[in-house]
Amino acid sequence: MSLKVYIGGKLYDKADAKISVYDHGLLYGDGVFEGIRSYSGRVFRLAQHIDRLYDSARSIHLQIPMSKADMAQAVTDTLAVNKLSDAYIRLVVTRGAGSLGLDPRKTDRPAGDHHHRLDQPLSGRALRARAEDRHRRHHAQPSQRTQPADQVAQLSEQHLGQDRGHEFGLPRGPDAQPQGRARRVHRRQHLVVRRGALHTPSLDSGILEGITRDAVIELARLAGHTVVERAMDRHDVYTADECFLTGTAAEVIPVVECDGRPIGAGQPGPITQNLRTRFHALVRGES
Ligand SMILES: Cc1ncc(COP(=O)(O)O)c(C=O)c1O
Repeated sequence: MSLKVYIGGKLYDKADAKISVYDHGLLYGDGVFEGIRSYSGRVFRLAQHIDRLYDSARSIHLQIPMSKADMAQAVTDTLAVNKLSDAYIRLVVTRGAGSLGLDPRKTDRPAGDHHHRLDQPLSGRALRARAEDRHRRHHAQPSQRTQPADQVAQLSEQHLGQDRGHEFGLPRGPDAQPQGRARRVHRRQHLVVRRGALHTPSLDSGILEGITRDAVIELARLAGHTVVERAMDRHDVYTADECFLTGTAAEVIPVVECDGRPIGAGQPGPITQNLRTRFHALVRGES
């Protein structure tokens, strides 16, 4: 049986699951996504993923034209139709098809009403313009706490990392890393172990509220570890006893080297291994 893909309320065979070349998600990366997993027929923390998807959408001024309950139902129905129990699910909501040009008003899912004020005729022939410097444009980027469909910057970080034979790339430089903090490891988040305690960048450094990170923090606390959320930089990774990454796709994955420096003993550490085992038990046991 061919895999069925859900698009806009209908299921399509994989070969027919297509979107318009005018879709602003394709043209401009204008959309949001969630990566989700199911284990033994149960979707792990689906409600949290759906909430985060709607928050990401709200943040980029995109109204999702269905309720959260219907979205959750679409996920479980699509899994059921495909008879999938262990699966990686990619939920993508784009601005929809529109005309060429970034203008989000000219799409299936235009940005909110206040944009329509721009449609009002301008008096005379002069435009009121505003000069935006680079600093300002930087701040116009979607919040780091959303999951924008445009992942070009993350892709180039990944290529950089792979070219150097690294298992992951930490963003470098002030542009990628405001305040010099290590905060984004494409689609994964890092935690380090130091003297038995776990340290990880805090949410107030603007990171995504990672669902796997959250689950691992709960597990670590249950296992009796102190968890410290704080500003971190690469020095914390270089000098850690252990380091691992979390993410829906990666689950819990040890990091044994960073920028040519072995981390701790250069092997997956015992606390990482233990949390990994606990995580695998959690995802299979939790409904
Ligand atoms: C920037 C970023 N950080 C972290 C993650 C991992 O988060 P989660 O554990 O919720 O999948 C993702 C997931 O796609 C991500 O895009």
